[in-house]
Amino acid sequence: MQLSKIYEPIQQDLAKVEDMMKSVSKADFSWLPKQLAHDLKDSGKLAELLTHSLKGGGKRIRPALTLLSGKFYDYNLDYLLPMATAVEILHTATLVHDDAIDKSPARRGRPTINKVWDDDKAILLGDYLFAKAGELAATTQNLRVTKLLAQTLMTITSGELAQSFSAFNLEQTRQHYLQRISSKTASLFSLATESGAILSQAPGKSAKVLKEYGYNLGIAFQIVDDIMDFIGTEEEMGKPVGSDLAQGTLTLPAMLLLEHYPEDNPVKELFQNRDRQKNIKLAIELVRSSSIVQECYTVASDYCAKACRNLNLLPDNASRQSLINLADYVVARKR
Ligand code: IPE
Ligand code: IPE
Ligand code: MG
Ligand code: MG
Repeated sequence: MQLSKIYEPIQQDLAKVEDMMKSVSKADFSWLPKQLAHDLKDSGKLAELLTHSLKGGGKRIRPALTLLSGKFYDYNLDYLLPMATAVEILHTATLVHDDAIDKSPARRGRPTINKVWDDDKAILLGDYLFAKAGELAATTQNLRVTKLLAQTLMTITSGELAQSFSAFNLEQTRQHYLQRISSKTASLFSLATESGAILSQAPGKSAKVLKEYGYNLGIAFQIVDDIMDFIGTEEEMGKPVGSDLAQGTLTLPAMLLLEHYPEDNPVKELFQNRDRQKNIKLAIELVRSSSIVQECYTVASDYCAKACRNLNLLPDNASRQSLINLADYVVARKR
């Protein structure tokens, strides 16, 4: 099913998130002394960076999750709109930094900030976006979601740090992998759903169901992203493929490759720093031609099933069906 169909119950409000992001792109400094605000705005450089990073091309799954999760009780856009926007801006900031860390040239089919400008601009733009996400969350006047957003950023950072510290390390278990993707990806998905629940006054039990849905969907989402890094095409994904191995990131497909071929193994060779290009190519070919892809999809599907397990405890409405369809989309997606 297409995303546009899944987003139907919140389509108009997702367009309002888009509008809010456009206004963020204009870099408003209204709280500053007039002259300073004028000078900052005048240079137009920040607005250029903001526009580049915030304009379309992303799937907008996280803000859609916040809005859909808000649909079960008191759907109040005064709170849900800034929160959904905050979540997508936080996501964008992590991507801007992630691309600089990964030295990646492309994102959403366009050159990255670090490619068009440089790492300095990516670091600073990411910082600005993090702060903007915090400011937007604070406009909900809800301390709980504001604190959750800050904690989620700490969790994502710790996941990215764990990934960085474990680069080219062969001594990693599946448990390590799950811990990393839970921190760097699932935490933000669960923030998206839990904050939607909280801001719509969902009872505790329903908020927990939505939080856990987001978490398990996020794990599945990252596993599929890691599969696509082996079998996808840059054209479809809008970002380079094969980059996890190049960065020394041991993902589920690479781990299974090590398990299946414990002796002569291109991942082993690569991580021990021998003939990079050749071994990346070999590893990709081996994953593609083996049962590993299917095994990874099975793991992802299991997490999607887990995500949906308790949705029947929520009121039956169109958004609930969208959450179920989104879980199918996550496994079937090509980008
Ligand atoms: C990319 O997320 C980062 C991961 C967690 C794998 P998305 O695939 O949701 O990126 P966009 O927002 O659609 O570009
Ligand atoms: C997700 O991991 C990145 C963040 C959580 C910021 P990836 O490194 O796999 O994301 P892509 O593949 O670059 O989008
Ligand atoms: Mg990356
Ligand atoms: Mg990836």
